[in-house]
Amino acid sequence: MQTFDQFETLVAGEREGRDNFKILVSSVLPRPVAFVSTISAAGVPNLAPFSFFNAVGSNPPAVIFSPCTMRDGTDKDTLNNIREVGEFVVHVVPHNMKEGMNETAAAVGPEVSEFDLAGFTPIKSQFVKPPRAAESPVQMECKLVQIVPVGEGPLSANICIGEVLCFHIAEGYLLENGVVDSAKLDLVGRLDGSGYSTIRDRFEMPAPKR
Ligand SMILES: Cc1cc2nc3c(=O)[nH]c(=O)nc-3n(C[C@H](O)[C@H](O)[C@H](O)COP(=O)(O)O)c2cc1C
Repeated sequence: MQTFDQFETLVAGEREGRDNFKILVSSVLPRPVAFVSTISAAGVPNLAPFSFFNAVGSNPPAVIFSPCTMRDGTDKDTLNNIREVGEFVVHVVPHNMKEGMNETAAAVGPEVSEFDLAGFTPIKSQFVKPPRAAESPVQMECKLVQIVPVGEGPLSANICIGEVLCFHIAEGYLLENGVVDSAKLDLVGRLDGSGYSTIRDRFEMPAPKR
């Protein structure tokens, strides 16, 4: 394997948040995309994508994602709704949902439902108040465990930790061995800038035997 002996060292604390953001999103990739539905206390549903996202445990199943504070110091509707209601639904994003998902990332006010804006179909959830989007083949109803802020002000993280209360998996997507058919899911990943990737070049590498 190649080794490197020359590095450019960028001290995060001496740089603007947006410059650190550029390094992060062009190095930590591809990032899975959580398409998150929430609902405000006033009852307005919301949908938005988040690629600072991952699964972090299985007993109980747990996910995290981070709606970051905006450049003007205000918080995103998703975060405000989760603070108010304490529940959310994480959906996966197949390739054929990408344009609709992207439309929901528009900066619109809390009075606007991105379900209507981008043409997603709301269906009732079983355990939580936010509706689900029927277009996504895997949906996870989550209750908030904790919001962990990292820093404060513009571009700071607000890590939402969720416990998954139930998985909804579309008919035909769950294989007999208990895994979801990832080839059929055909999810997209987020890269830097306006870049995305697919998961169509999968390779296999069994874990070491001991
Ligand atoms: C693919 C994709 C991934 C995104 N990931 C994040 C993210 O991880 N954190 C974040 O704060 N914003 C992220 N955004 C931007 C939010 O989706 C956007 O600010 C959205 O308007 C927030 O909606 P809300 O105000 O209704 O919550 C992402 C946008 C796209 C298109």
